[in-house]
Amino acid sequence: MQNLNEDNITRAVIAMHAGAENARLRELMTSLVQHLHSFARDVGLTEAEWFTGIRFLTDIGHITTDKRQEFILLSDTLGLSMLVTALNNRKPQGCTEATVFGPFHVEGSPRIPLGGDVANGAQGEPCFVRGSVVDLQGRPVPGAELQVWQADATGHYDVQYAAAGEGDHEHRARATLNVDALGKFHFKTIRAEAYPIPHDGPVGKMLEALGRHPWRPAHLHFMITAPGFERLITHVFRNGDQYLDSDAVFGVRSSLIADWIEHPPGVTPDGARSAIPFYTLDFRFVLNPLPAASGRAAAAGARTAPV
Ligand code: BEZ
Ligand code: FE
Repeated sequence: MQNLNEDNITRAVIAMHAGAENARLRELMTSLVQHLHSFARDVGLTEAEWFTGIRFLTDIGHITTDKRQEFILLSDTLGLSMLVTALNNRKPQGCTEATVFGPFHVEGSPRIPLGGDVANGAQGEPCFVRGSVVDLQGRPVPGAELQVWQADATGHYDVQYAAAGEGDHEHRARATLNVDALGKFHFKTIRAEAYPIPHDGPVGKMLEALGRHPWRPAHLHFMITAPGFERLITHVFRNGDQYLDSDAVFGVRSSLIADWIEHPPGVTPDGARSAIPFYTLDFRFVLNPLPAASGRAAAAGARTAPV
């Protein structure tokens, strides 16, 4: 294999992978090489442009730590994260749609009781969230566990303060709770606000060069798990937000937009009194049964159906 040229080099590279033991790896790398080479041919990639690309990826590597994942931001802002989410979350009509995970989830957030305080000192306008977790037939899913996380009024997640050396905001505006026997939940938190994704690094520079803004519309993150159901990773977006049609990471689904209803100062849903306006949000999550569970549910339905 010598004297390769622009017409046969792609085939030659792919042929070199023929001995890979892992068939899936071979498939992935074959397609990646084909697409990378096609890209270079399509645009007539210059050497200077190729080097700029290498420099860009190097800068992304340099800024990336376990607290700052610039490669995920790149994937998010190029729409790849949302594409992978869509490819892997095809659900029956009626199920709550999934959206991007984002880099700010933390394992082991504090467990709170129903009605508990998610904010835990995070600054923001008071907000009372309630809702339910049901199956496709609208039946409650009493075994569901919810993890919720969000940014504060300044548009920062707790983990961003520590990363910036700005003190300990650990486990603020994030919590884990269980629904009740009727599949219902409620908690107190702060109003979700729009915020820019981290844009002080190479991805921010890329967005600027492309004439794009870094903003995400206001949202609340949820991860919902329950035995017999697919895990749901999603957001609820705030209706009326100015960035709903230009989310920097392409995550908005219209079915996930809900009203944060503003209330004047007065008695709040938990029976306390607020001297300032507060907000309420209601949302129903519909989980997708796992294949085996949906078979069982169908069988159970057949047994209990009226005759
Ligand atoms: C988020 O919603 O937390 C997020 C998603 C993608 C990139 C940055 C932040
Ligand atoms: Fe977020």
